[in-house]
Amino acid sequence: MEQKKKRILTGDRPTGKLHLGHYVGTLKNRVALQDSYECYFIIADLHTLTTKPEKEHIAQLPQNIYDVVLDYLSVGIDPERGTIFLQSAVRETAELTLLLGDLVTLPRLSRLPSIKDMARAANMDDETVPFGLIGYPVLQAADILLPRAHLVPVGKDNEAHVEITREIARRFNRLYGAEVFPVPDVMIGEVPTLVGTDGQAKMSKSLDNAIFLSDDAKTVQTKVRGMYTDPNRIRADIPGRVEGNPVFIYHDAFNPDIDEVNDLKDRYRQGKVGDVEVKKKLARALNAFLDPVRERRAAYEARPGMVEEILMEGTRRMQEQARLTMDMVYDAMGVVGPRLAKAIRETTPFKLVA
Ligand code: TRP
Repeated sequence: MEQKKKRILTGDRPTGKLHLGHYVGTLKNRVALQDSYECYFIIADLHTLTTKPEKEHIAQLPQNIYDVVLDYLSVGIDPERGTIFLQSAVRETAELTLLLGDLVTLPRLSRLPSIKDMARAANMDDETVPFGLIGYPVLQAADILLPRAHLVPVGKDNEAHVEITREIARRFNRLYGAEVFPVPDVMIGEVPTLVGTDGQAKMSKSLDNAIFLSDDAKTVQTKVRGMYTDPNRIRADIPGRVEGNPVFIYHDAFNPDIDEVNDLKDRYRQGKVGDVEVKKKLARALNAFLDPVRERRAAYEARPGMVEEILMEGTRRMQEQARLTMDMVYDAMGVVGPRLAKAIRETTPFKLVA
């Protein structure tokens, strides 16, 4: 018997162009899984408002949304097989967030390190952190549960949010005695957090240490040339450290020529290779990886209106799923409003009590 495919939901906030860290953290998994799962990719614009509600930030979202969709398409996410959609166009997201907020405690949410980190980065403290930022994981749970997803491939920083989602899903199913939501599994990429070009723990646009999927070959060369390596190695004939060295971390992640990488590591440890050669070969490997990404990007960019068309079709598909899920949710809960609303719409009789 044909088993219906399980579902994936994952996505990104539209805060700017995606980089190599996104690729190894989650994009690579998404591309690999698009045949075996029915995939939903969310552009989570509402999540950006939790730290940046100002109008001038909202005004940047259309360009950022465009860039993220194009990044998805350029790494090989196939809009025929998967569904790319915009969060704020699926109104049920807000509805479900409200309901799910009743199934998780405030202390559970406010203790999360990820929320504290985001608050700190936005210069907020316990007194100024908004309700919406504390509720960030609840909004994310609504994203995940709305298509009733089974699997969530994300970066390490989102792992705790999927755990909250699991707790909420279990609680919903138990409270309302129905298996409306699968309890979703998390999947973390093989390089959970990629170091920045400057050696900082995390590659990030705001730290200005990122290599973007949309960087051209020259930019990649320049960024690699400026990369942080072993700080104790002031000359090429001094033995160097390979472990934790960003240049070798990138080689491991992106250079498919294992013999070349092992040879470079051996010689580096012995003080028999200069940084220049290691970096040249890294730049070459990165550009070889990025070339097909660039080609796909160019092909999509050559067709004006394509990105928007893909987003429209994907969002339409997601809206359909959202309506189905909300019917199941209200049915299970027995909340009466939707039945009243339906009666009004269809001008049919409505009774509160028998
Ligand atoms: N929180 C994710 C981020 O760090 C974005 C996101 C929003 C998401 N909703 C999601 C990821 C649902 C996975 C599943 O940008």
